Amino acid sequence: MAIFKQKNNSVVDLSKIELPKHVGIIMDGNGRWAKKRGLPRSAGHSMGAQNFRTIARYCSNIGIKYLTVYAFSTENWKRPMEEVSALMKLFKSYLIEALTDFKDDSIVVKFIGDTTAFNPELQELIERTERESANRDGMVLNIAMNYGGRDELVRATKNIAQQVKDGVLDIDKIDEQLISDNLYTKGQPDPDLIIRPSGEYRTSNFMVWQAAYSELVIMDILWPDFSTNDFDNALEIYSQRNRRFGGI
Ligand code: IPE
Ligand code: IPE
Ligand code: MG
Repeated sequence: MAIFKQKNNSVVDLSKIELPKHVGIIMDGNGRWAKKRGLPRSAGHSMGAQNFRTIARYCSNIGIKYLTVYAFSTENWKRPMEEVSALMKLFKSYLIEALTDFKDDSIVVKFIGDTTAFNPELQELIERTERESANRDGMVLNIAMNYGGRDELVRATKNIAQQVKDGVLDIDKIDEQLISDNLYTKGQPDPDLIIRPSGEYRTSNFMVWQAAYSELVIMDILWPDFSTNDFDNALEIYSQRNRRFGGI
C-alpha cells in the first residue's frame, strides 16, 4: 500500500523510499519552545512528551521496526531540582497514558539506561510497561532514560571484565560482537538514522557505540513542533544518502 504524505507542495511517497530499520531521535528543544512562548520549561516538556506519543505511533504505523527516543540523559540530573522533579512527574503520567496507546499498536516497550536511579514508583511502572509489552509483535520502542552512551560502555566493560576474572571468558574472545551483546540494545540492529531536532550539531552521549555508522539528520525545529511531515522529510533526506561504511 502506498502511503502518500502531503508536505507543503511536495509529496513524499513512503512506499518508494527505503525505510531505515532503526531510527533514533534526540528529543531536544523543549525548553526553548517554552521560553519562546513565555512559559515555564516544564510546559515545553509536557508538549514534548505529547509529541513523543504521536511520533512513536506514527513510526509504528509506517513500518519502522525499531525506534529509540532519548528522553533523559545521565547528564540531565545537573538541571535545577524543580525541572528534574517536573520531568519525573511527567514520565509517570505519560507512561501510564502511553501504555494504552502502545497496546493498541502492539508496540514492545523497552527502557535503556540505568533505571535503578528512579524512584520506586517509577521503577515499578517501567518494569510493568516492559513486562506487559514483552510478548507483542510490533515495533520495538526503546525509551532512553538516565541513559548515557559512555555509561553504557562502562557497564559493558565491567560485565566483560567480571567474566574474564571469573575465568568464564577468554580475553581473546572479546570482539565487537561481544561488546554489542553487552549493551542495552543487545540483539537489535544499530540505528540507521539519528534525527536531532532543535538544530544542535552534536549527539550528546547518545548511542556512542551503536551510532558509528548512523546517518545524522539535524533539523532546525524544536521537538514539540516536530511533526509527522518533518519525520517524513528526515526519511527522504536519509533515503538520498550514500552509505559507504568505509567502502567506495
Ligand atoms: C529536551 O529538551 C528534553 C530533555 C533533555 C529532558 P531540553 O530541555 O534540552 O530543551 P532545550 O534544549 O533547553 O531547549
Ligand atoms: C540531549 O539533550 C538529551 C535529551 C534530549 C534527553 P540535552 O539538551 O541534554 O543536550 P545538550 O546539553 O544540548 O548537549
Ligand atoms: Mg537541550
